[in-house]
Amino acid sequence: MKVYLNGEFLPLEEARVPVMDRGFVFGDGVYEVVPVYHRRPLAWERHWARLEHSLQGIRLANPLSREAWEQIVERLVAESEQADQSLYLQITRGVAPRDHGFPANIVPTVLAMSKPLAPPPQAWLQDGVQAVTRQDDRWLHCDLKTTALLANLLLRQQALDVGAVECILLRDGRLTEGAASNVVLVIDGTLVSPPRDHRMLAGITLELVMALAQRHGVTVQEREVTEAELRGAQEIWLTSSTREMLPVTRLDGVPVGTGKPGPVGQRLLAAYQALK
Ligand SMILES: Cc1ncc(COP(=O)(O)O)c(C=O)c1O
Repeated sequence: MKVYLNGEFLPLEEARVPVMDRGFVFGDGVYEVVPVYHRRPLAWERHWARLEHSLQGIRLANPLSREAWEQIVERLVAESEQADQSLYLQITRGVAPRDHGFPANIVPTVLAMSKPLAPPPQAWLQDGVQAVTRQDDRWLHCDLKTTALLANLLLRQQALDVGAVECILLRDGRLTEGAASNVVLVIDGTLVSPPRDHRMLAGITLELVMALAQRHGVTVQEREVTEAELRGAQEIWLTSSTREMLPVTRLDGVPVGTGKPGPVGQRLLAAYQALK
């Protein structure tokens, strides 16, 4: 597998960054994950805009032009063995003596790589997955896709520890998102997702699914979702670039709706498959 690192394309095993990289020392960086189908990035424009938003949010200028990024992406995608890929882009503030303040004249570290993207296991789609709920104890800049993911990792692991696939988060009694996914619900036939603000990442898959819903005549609402509404939803679906749409059929051990993947989400999943 080839990666791009600071101007060079080289095998992953040969890619090195100094230990004083602020990405390593502080998690001082941002990233993007872009799904690629048939060697074409899906919704590149939106991922690009979100990368710029994340960079702005951590006060880091993009070290490369959009054209330069697109050339890197094109080459990685073309040279990857598989046509369906998960493309990973990361920018850290760069290498400097350890100090909290932003160093002057520092050169950011740029990494890009692509790995094969496999669809989620068939059993997950047929039977649905289990999720647990936890308090969302992350910071209040969850709209930024930063590499500092320890809070998300701790939450995801709590789900894995009990055999669940995702940890669904509640802040002040309101649904935010999953540890590494967004959450959409079907409530009285309407597709509902929480407001896209600083409490959650504005997921690109979520955006695409909401747009598909509108096109298919499903009413959509972006609004606050209470814990009671989450627990009483007819359907719960997780969305993310790498797992697409996953039905949650057990939440904290309790069946969701009928306990089977629901019809509204299934229609949208079919539409998403067609889109990709
Ligand atoms: C915290 C979090 N929320 C939401 C998402 C879904 O975003 P996207 O659909 O753009 O992959 C992710 C993606 O991994 C995530 O890490």
